[in-house]
Amino acid sequence: MDKTDNREILKVKDLSISFTQYNGLKKETTQTIHNLSVSVHEGEIVAIVGASGSGKSLLAHSILGILPYNATLSGEIYFYDNLLTEEKKREERGKNIALIPQSVSYLNPLIKIGSQIRKGDNSSKAKERCLEILRKYKLDEKVANMYPFQLSGGMIRRVLISTAVYSSPKLILADEPTPGLDSKTLNHIAKHFQDLANEGIGILIITHDLDIALKIANRIVVFYDGKTIEDISTNDFSSLDNLNHPYTKALFHAMPQNGFHSFSLNCFSQGSENKGCSFYNNCSHANPKCLGNIPWKKTNSGFVRCILEKEDKNVLKSK
Ligand SMILES: Nc1ncnc2c1ncn2[C@@H]1O[C@H](COP(=O)(O)OP(=O)(O)OP(=O)(O)O)[C@@H](O)[C@H]1O
Ligand SMILES: [Mg+2]
Repeated sequence: MDKTDNREILKVKDLSISFTQYNGLKKETTQTIHNLSVSVHEGEIVAIVGASGSGKSLLAHSILGILPYNATLSGEIYFYDNLLTEEKKREERGKNIALIPQSVSYLNPLIKIGSQIRKGDNSSKAKERCLEILRKYKLDEKVANMYPFQLSGGMIRRVLISTAVYSSPKLILADEPTPGLDSKTLNHIAKHFQDLANEGIGILIITHDLDIALKIANRIVVFYDGKTIEDISTNDFSSLDNLNHPYTKALFHAMPQNGFHSFSLNCFSQGSENKGCSFYNNCSHANPKCLGNIPWKKTNSGFVRCILEKEDKNVLKSK
């Protein structure tokens, strides 16, 4: 069954994020995320795929209400049809909505793993639940009494997942959950996510690695320059012809199994007016219309932000 038929857990609608900074005495505002929309359903694993600096972590942090102080947010975020106000985000954070953070530095180096998973709860019930989760993620019970520095990279990743699932969340935001892991560990982590989804949990995975996203997710949302440019079923990646945006095609071409065709991109247009295609400078079929408004168009299995017809599209300008 298509998971998008399941109940919607998360809906992000027209999210924009900008930052105010001072350059000397001059106040400057830079928009980093532009009118972003994305949704996650029960039992669905959605991957946000985008380059470094494209705003992926900011999306997760805006859902959790932990954006930096100089950020301004507009748009709406719904959790099970309820608008998430900043107060609601605080209530849900770490409970119904859990984060698997990008950085291991989210773990306190001076506190034992068990206590961090239990969030300081020392009751016997909490201790039992903690051990149960450690066992689930094939971590020895002794790990509860160890410090982060005593664990390998793969073990730390499993501890971060354990910390997130401890509160039995409905939605998990996983920010780069698999950096630098060997393929065996990666397959284990993919299986853990699949098991969580089978329990009905919705998962939003954030990654720069399309290969990993295709291994884990049901749906891929491609991010470029703070905008969603394509939302597409993972199954559609079986053929290049199914992909709709030139940037999605370029990512597909760059995968090792598809020839490793590298590409260099002209600078992102961050801070520019929220109009026109951000990929304009890199697209061999760009025309003046691409500088106008680009609608979020329905496709076979999702949406695309591109005015070109499929047959017009090649991939990238040659270097
Ligand atoms: N406090 C801040 N003030 C100004 N700009 C910021 C601030 N925090 C983030 N940004 C901007 O937001 C952009 C997106 O940041 P984000 O961390 O979401 O990127 P990302 O896609 O997660 O990158 P990566 O893959 O490297 O983790 C950054 O490039 C930076 O320019
Ligand atoms: Mg990030």
